[in-house]
Amino acid sequence: MIRYVDRRLVVDGIDIDRLADVVGTPFHAYSAGTIRERHARIVNAFDGIDLGIRYAVKACGNAAILRLLQELGAGFDLVSGGEYQRARRICASPDKLVIAGVGKREDEIRSVLRDGVGVYHIESEAEFDLVSKVVAEMRASGALHGGTLRVALRLNPDVGVDTHDYIATAKKESKFGIDFQTASGLVERIAETSAIDLCAYHVHLGSLLFEVGPYLEACKKVLAWMDEDPLRAKGVTHYDMGGGFGSGGPFSDAAIDLDALGRGMKELLGPRRLSLLCEPGRFLVGDSGVLVTSLLYEKCGLTKDFYVVDAAMTDLIRPSLYGATHDILPVLSGGSDRARRVDVVGPVCESGDWLGKDRELPQLDAGARLAVLQSGAYGMSMASNYNTRPKVAEVLCDSGRAHLISRRQPLEDLWRDECDVAVEGDFTSR
Ligand code: LLP
Repeated sequence: MIRYVDRRLVVDGIDIDRLADVVGTPFHAYSAGTIRERHARIVNAFDGIDLGIRYAVKACGNAAILRLLQELGAGFDLVSGGEYQRARRICASPDKLVIAGVGKREDEIRSVLRDGVGVYHIESEAEFDLVSKVVAEMRASGALHGGTLRVALRLNPDVGVDTHDYIATAKKESKFGIDFQTASGLVERIAETSAIDLCAYHVHLGSLLFEVGPYLEACKKVLAWMDEDPLRAKGVTHYDMGGGFGSGGPFSDAAIDLDALGRGMKELLGPRRLSLLCEPGRFLVGDSGVLVTSLLYEKCGLTKDFYVVDAAMTDLIRPSLYGATHDILPVLSGGSDRARRVDVVGPVCESGDWLGKDRELPQLDAGARLAVLQSGAYGMSMASNYNTRPKVAEVLCDSGRAHLISRRQPLEDLWRDECDVAVEGDFTSR
C-alpha cells in the first residue's frame, strides 16, 4: 500500500527515498499489496456471478506483474502477437486468454490458433474471412489447437462514455467493434462454419470510466439484440464487458461503484445463466505505481516557474498525450513549508514534455525526489526511447521487500539493431 510514514513515502513497507539511493532515478515502483487489494475488490463486487478476470496486459506487461495476477487467478486480455508471447512466457493457461485487436496480422493469428486461446475476439467481417480460411487450413493439417476455435464477436453498441476521445471506443464512429446489423450476418456465417464456435459477445466501452450506467446500457442493448433471433444466443455462454474501470489514485476514494456494477450485471445476466468476463487493466495496476524522479533544476521564467526533473514524457506520456492529471508529491514531505507553484517538466526537447502543470509543491533543492502517482498503468507500457533515453527500471515492492523486475535499459540497446546491410532483391524502379 502507498502511504506516508513519518512524512516519508512508503510503498508496501519500502522507503522510496532510500530505495532511490540504490536504484537511481527515474524508476517505476509498484505496490503488490495494492494490486492484490484491487483484485479482491473486483472479485467481491461480482460475488454470486461466474466471473473471469482477464487482465489487460497493455496496461503493464512486466512478467512479475503478470505472475502476481496469475497467482490470484486472473487470465489475460491480449492485443498483439507480442502480448500473446508475454503470456506464453509466464506459462499462462491458454483457456484463460482472450485475444482482441482490430488489426491482427495473419502470422499473429496463426500463432494464437496453433498454441491456443480461450476466446478469440473477431472485430470485423474481413477478419472473420481470414480467420475462417486459416482455421480450415490448420484444422486440415491438424495444427489447430484443440480442433475448434471459440470466438466472440466484439460488438459496437454505440454507447457514449465520459472520457478522453482517444480512449472512448464504443461509439459508432469508432474503429472498434461490429455494428449489430453486420454482426447478425456474421452470426449466421459462423453457424455455418465448422470448427468455429461462437461462445461470447464482447464490448469494451473505453477507459477511465466512473459511471456504471453505460456498462449496463451496453449489456442491455446486446441482450435485446440476442433476443431477436434464437441463433444469436445459441451456444453463447459468456458476456465480456471489457475493461475501463476508473479510480482516482491511491489517496482518493473516487472510483467506479463496482458493487453497483456487480449487482446490475448479475440482474441482467443471472436469469440467462450467462457467465461474465471483464478485462480491467488500469484498475488493477494504475494506482499501484509511482514514477520516482529527482529534481534537476529549479528554473524561474518570466511568467512561470519550473521544476525540471529527470523523468519525462518518455517514461509517462499520459500528461502529454491526453492532458491527463497525475498527482505529484514530494517523496519526503517534511521539508520546507514554503509553497511554490510550478510546472513539473522533463528534459525532452518538446514543450509537450510535462508531467504536471501549475502544481503546488514545497520549495525543494536539486536532488530532492518527487513521486508521480497512478503511473502503474500505461506508464512503462507506453514508454519510448525518444531523445535516446533508455527505458527506466521497474521495482515491485511487496511486504517490505523490493524486487528489481526490469533493469534500466542499457544505452547500447538503443542502437544495437542499427546496421548497414544491403537488402537482397531487385527493387530498382522501372
Ligand atoms: N479491453 C480492451 C479491449 C481494451 O482496449 C482496453 C484498453 C482494456 C480492456 C483495458 O482498459 P482499462 O481497464 O485499462 O481502462 N493509454 C490510455 C488507455 C488506453 C486503453 C486501451 N484499451 C491511457 O493511458 O489512458
